[in-house]
Amino acid sequence: MADKLIIFDTTLRDGEQSPGASMTRDEKLRIARQLERLKVDVIEAGFAASSNGDFEAVQLIANSIKDATICSLSRANDRDISRAAEALKGANRARIHTFIATSALHMEKKLRMTPDQVFEQAKQSVRFARNLVDDIEFSPEDGYRSDVDFLCRVIEAVINEGATTINVPDTVGYAIPELYGNFIKTLRERIPNSDKAVWSVHCHNDLGMAVANSLAGVKIGGARQVECTINGLGERAGNCSLEEVVMAVKTRKDYFNLDLGIDTRHILAASRMVSQTTGFVVQPNKAVVGANAFAHASGIHQDGVLKARDTYEIMRAEDVGWTANKIVLGKLSGRNAFKQRLLELGVQMESEADINAAFARFKELADRKSEIFDEDILALVSDESVSHVKEQYGFVSLSQHSETGERPMATIVFTVDGKEVKGESDGNGPVDASLKAIETHVKSGAEMVLYSVNAISGSTESQGEVTVRLQNSGRVVNGVGSDPDIVVASAKAYLSALNKLHSKADRVAAQG
Ligand code: KIV
Ligand code: ZN
Repeated sequence: MADKLIIFDTTLRDGEQSPGASMTRDEKLRIARQLERLKVDVIEAGFAASSNGDFEAVQLIANSIKDATICSLSRANDRDISRAAEALKGANRARIHTFIATSALHMEKKLRMTPDQVFEQAKQSVRFARNLVDDIEFSPEDGYRSDVDFLCRVIEAVINEGATTINVPDTVGYAIPELYGNFIKTLRERIPNSDKAVWSVHCHNDLGMAVANSLAGVKIGGARQVECTINGLGERAGNCSLEEVVMAVKTRKDYFNLDLGIDTRHILAASRMVSQTTGFVVQPNKAVVGANAFAHASGIHQDGVLKARDTYEIMRAEDVGWTANKIVLGKLSGRNAFKQRLLELGVQMESEADINAAFARFKELADRKSEIFDEDILALVSDESVSHVKEQYGFVSLSQHSETGERPMATIVFTVDGKEVKGESDGNGPVDASLKAIETHVKSGAEMVLYSVNAISGSTESQGEVTVRLQNSGRVVNGVGSDPDIVVASAKAYLSALNKLHSKADRVAAQG
C-alpha cells in the first residue's frame, strides 16, 4: 500500500508574511474554505500570538472549517503557545506548530541564546504545548543550516516530549535537492526515536528550488508531509508551491508511489482567489496555473495535441480546474443558473443575501458585456461588496474626460457611510485624476505601493481587474476592483483598499 503524503498549506501564515500580501479576516476565511474544498490535510491559519487580527482569523477558521486540521504557529514560549491553543479551541482537529531557531548564526545573532538554552526551551515548550493539544509540530528554524549533531539532540528531545510532527525548514532557501534529501535521511537514521513522528519539509524558494528540494526531502529523505503555499506565495522568493508539488506527485505516481487526499480540480480556483486577494499576479508561464500552462501555440504542438493530447500534455487541464474559455452565462441567465455555476466553480457564498448581491452585479455586468466567462464570475464574487467587509466607501458613478494634449479631468460620486459625495480633480491620466478626485474628500494620507491592471479574460472586450495596494501607518492592504472600464475598476479598487484600511476587523500589527 502506498503511504499518504500530507499536504500542509501555509498560504495564510507563511504566504501572508510576504510584504504586501496581508489579508483581512474575511479574506482568510474565504481562502480557508477554498483550501477545504481542495481537501488539504492541514491549514496553517496564522500566528495567533502575533496580533489580535491574526488571533481572530485563526479562531474564525478553527470554528468554521471542519474537514482539515487547523494549525497556529507559535514561538517556543508559554505565552505564544497558550494564545495558539486558545484560538484553536473551536477546531475539530487542532495543531500547535512551535518553532525556535537552531542554527549557530540564528542562535547567536538573533536569539542571543546558547545552544543549551535553546535545547531547554525547545523541550520545555513542546512539553507545555502537549498539555494543551495532542497534535504538536516542532520546527527547528533555519534547520538546514544547523549543526547536524545539535539538531539530532534537539529533535530527539522534542519527540520524547511528545512532538508528533518534525518539520525541517530550509528557512533561507539555501538547499540543493540531493543535499536536502540526504539531510532529512541522515536525521531520520541517526535519531533513535525518529519513527515516532511524521517528518515534514518546508522549503523556501530563494534559489528557485523549493519544489525540487521538497520532493527530494520526500523521495530521498522519506518525509511524509510537505509544507507549501498556493502560487508559492511567501516571503522573498516564496515557499514551495502547492500546485506544483501536488501535480508532480500525482503525475509521477510511478516514481513517488504516494497517495494524496487533494481534489486537484479546485487548484485553479484557489490560485485565482489567492492572486486576486493579494494582488500577486501569476506569471503566464507558471507551471499548472499560469495562463499558458496548457496553451499550445506552435503549429507542430497544436497538430500533435489534436491527434493525441498526450503527445505534448502530461496533465489534463481539466484535472486542475481549467475549463475551455467558453461563454458560460449571458444576459438571460437566471439566478439558479448563476448559483449552479458558482457551485461548479467551487465558490460557496455565506448566505442567500450574498448570492443575491452577487447576482445583481452579474446582471449589471451582463447588460454591458455580452459574453460572461468563468473568470468574470470569479472576479464578481471576489468583490468586497459581496463579502463581509463593512463598506465605509461605495462606488456610485464616474465620468472623466481625456484628450491628446489636454490634462485629464475626472468627477466621481461615491458614498461615505451611505451618504453621497462628489469629488473632482485633474491628474496625469484618467486613473490618476479619478483617484485624486476620491482623495479630495477622503484625505487618507495613504501611500500607493502597487497599482496593477490585468485583463480578466484576455481580450480588449474583457473586464479589467485592478489591484491597488495602500500603505498607511505600517499597515498594508490590497483592494481589488473589476469593470469593463479600467478607470472605473481603478476607482473601485481604490475605494476597496480604503475600506480595508479603515476596517477594524483587519490585522492591527505586522507579524512578529
Ligand atoms: O521558514 C521557516 O523557517 C518557517 C518556520 C517558522 C517553520 O516558516
Ligand atoms: Zn517559512
